[in-house]
Amino acid sequence: MAQRTLARYLIEEQRNKGVITADLKFLIEVVSRACQAISIAIGKGGLGGVLGEAGSANVQGEAQKKLDVLSNEILLDANEWGGHLAAMASEEMDLPHTIPHRYPQGEYLLLFDPLDGSSNIDVDVSIGTIFSVLKCPEGADLSTPEASEAAFLQPGTAQVAAGYAVYGPTTVLVLSVGDGVTCFTLDREQGGFVLTQEAMRIPADTAEFAINMANQRHWEAPVQRYVAEMQQGKDGALGKDYNMRWVGSMVADVHRIMTRGGIFMYPLDAKTRDKGGKLRLMYEANPMAFLIEQAGGAASTGRQRILDIEPDRLHQRVPVILGSKNEVARVVGYHG
Ligand code: AHG
Ligand code: MN
Ligand code: MN
Repeated sequence: MAQRTLARYLIEEQRNKGVITADLKFLIEVVSRACQAISIAIGKGGLGGVLGEAGSANVQGEAQKKLDVLSNEILLDANEWGGHLAAMASEEMDLPHTIPHRYPQGEYLLLFDPLDGSSNIDVDVSIGTIFSVLKCPEGADLSTPEASEAAFLQPGTAQVAAGYAVYGPTTVLVLSVGDGVTCFTLDREQGGFVLTQEAMRIPADTAEFAINMANQRHWEAPVQRYVAEMQQGKDGALGKDYNMRWVGSMVADVHRIMTRGGIFMYPLDAKTRDKGGKLRLMYEANPMAFLIEQAGGAASTGRQRILDIEPDRLHQRVPVILGSKNEVARVVGYHG
């Protein structure tokens, strides 16, 4: 049987199942080609001059790496001419990018974290791209970048597609159009993504957790309690031994959970309380929460389902607790 490429999968979702429109199919194909271009750039490493600092800072005041800037440009260039988008927003841009007048405007909004795991770029550890797709509300004012921000402020439940690419030993693209989660692997010889796993499911229980332990003293009581209980292992309240894995690239930590279960936490802590958390809602937490729920897992701030949050700004930050359903429920329970 012929390989099921991403293109073929998308045709089936459109033609046979009617889950997606022709424009959304095109959008996902364009994003996948951009991810392939980013993967190739990353693969050159020190030979391609792509490592190191860009010498600039983004809107969150974080120093940008060359690859943060390059990945952002690849995604913008790939997506602005096709006529499928109304606007784009990114971690690396203060305001949304409106579509230049010389191109037609479409009905979708695309948000992305062009390069997730920036601190892992120069040390050859897995990094990735995260994206989220929304419908542009009818009559939205897109006349200026400032005005267009309002169109993006929709809860995660409104996402029509979300996905991420991991640039690791292999490059994978994990996608959901609201019809389960599918994993594609980049065929480096032929180019393009090929379906390698359908209907990804996250086991409800797990004995593996991911959290930055360096922040322990800043955590709130419910997370302190949960991590302490996991560390007590068999002898403690949870009655089993746990293992810890922390890559430090959300995409890679989430992909491990997608593959074999686990719980990932970047909870509210005293250090990030004023900002609302560490991770960004619109292009990190929401797309990941969408994928995790589509695979049978759960995603919460500890106090609220992530997908239910009504955003009030584009670069809003939120606490994130996601992964295997029963473990997430336990932590949420500890929050009372
Ligand atoms: P980004 O590289 O897009 O800024 O995101 C980094 C995020 C996320 O990938 C990761 O889970 C987290 O930041 C790690 O942060 P710390 O190393 O500060 O804990
Ligand atoms: Mn990120
Ligand atoms: Mn990033």
